[in-house]
Amino acid sequence: MDQKKVRIGIIGTGGIAHAHMKAYLNRTDVEIVALCDIVPGKAAAFAAKFSLENAVCYESYVEMLDKEALDAVSVCTYNAQHAAPSIYALNKGVHVLCEKPFSVTLDEAAEMMRAEKASGKILSIGFQPRFDRNMQKIKKIVESGELGQVYYIQTGGGRRRGIPCSDVKTSFIEKETAGVGALGDIGCYALDMVLNAVGYPVPLTVSGFITDYFGKDPETYRYTGNDADFLASKFSVDDFGGALIRLEGGIIVDFRIAWAMNINTPGDTIILGTKGGLRIPSTDCWNGTVGGEMTVYRHCAGSPVEYKIPLEKDGPKDGSLWDRKIGSFVDAVKNGGSSPIPSWQILRNQAIIDGVVRSAACGKEVEIVMPEI
Ligand SMILES: NC(=O)c1ccc[n+]([C@@H]2O[C@H](COP(=O)([O-])OP(=O)(O)OC[C@H]3O[C@@H](n4cnc5c(N)ncnc54)[C@H](O)[C@@H]3O)[C@@H](O)[C@H]2O)c1
Repeated sequence: MDQKKVRIGIIGTGGIAHAHMKAYLNRTDVEIVALCDIVPGKAAAFAAKFSLENAVCYESYVEMLDKEALDAVSVCTYNAQHAAPSIYALNKGVHVLCEKPFSVTLDEAAEMMRAEKASGKILSIGFQPRFDRNMQKIKKIVESGELGQVYYIQTGGGRRRGIPCSDVKTSFIEKETAGVGALGDIGCYALDMVLNAVGYPVPLTVSGFITDYFGKDPETYRYTGNDADFLASKFSVDDFGGALIRLEGGIIVDFRIAWAMNINTPGDTIILGTKGGLRIPSTDCWNGTVGGEMTVYRHCAGSPVEYKIPLEKDGPKDGSLWDRKIGSFVDAVKNGGSSPIPSWQILRNQAIIDGVVRSAACGKEVEIVMPEI
């Protein structure tokens, strides 16, 4: 695929498809061939907005993938519609960049991976914080041995009021479209931040909980300018959740995540090892990234010592996180490379989210059985 442009289709032309599109437009080696959205006219409006005169618009991804010769698709549908289009595309021999979270359930994610395996094509999951230098630094610190053997991790984040919805957009707060709430939407980032750093061990058990006190309360939306009663009536997912997770190799993860809460932060991320500890400040409004200078805590000749890890800045040629997310995917498609964010890793992330939901439903710890792919 040397000279030829990579032929891209976008499935779901809502909010996040705009970020994909802008990054694709920064590449000279891709061509947006087709767009699809189930809402009549939405793909065409998107095409007009980005002056994509040659892109063919569809209301069905099946029709789009049957008719168009595509190299790759961005799956930008809401969570409950990640699996079906991704599987159909992979079965057609088309590479897939699917938005986060992987899916709603572990079973769906496993089905997506089976399609990936059978097709031999790439399935990458869209975690753009992975391309942040400071996030990469966390993994480097752990791998440097400075912390010794990691045995305990606290991770998560929160927003005082940050439920993503409006009068015209309820896809994040309705079970039918979102499947999971804060847990999947921003919880997957908190898990990825630390699990990636320690090599994504297999999760063994989860004791989890979820609540929905804020989402279902009209007061939460009273000053947003939206119809508070309407949004509260639509809310059917979690707005807060967490878990105690046991990982293979003896690491315990204490995790919590909130779209809304009455506190400034549910705590920084901390990684405790036998030789050192790492504190990663949370962001005020949790977005899955590093909120400030990290601190390493050690003991030296009997005295406690600590030092700061300066925040790294992007270089002038780095592009945005989105440029890197889309660019790494396009490069892998062009060069026959491997998936930038491998599905086997995010399957373990999804297994935890799935475990939290199951554990919350039965009120006790549940075992995680990783599916055969
Ligand atoms: N990586 C990030 O930073 C980031 C940020 C926001 C959202 N997201 C993820 O992106 C996904 C979409 O979020 P959004 O904000 O764009 O939601 P959205 O509701 O604005 O857009 C989703 C679009 O998909 C369309 N759609 C649904 N099912 C479809 C199908 N079967 N075929 C074609 N189109 C279909 C909907 O009509 C809608 O236009 C979510 O999974 C979300 O978690 C990621």
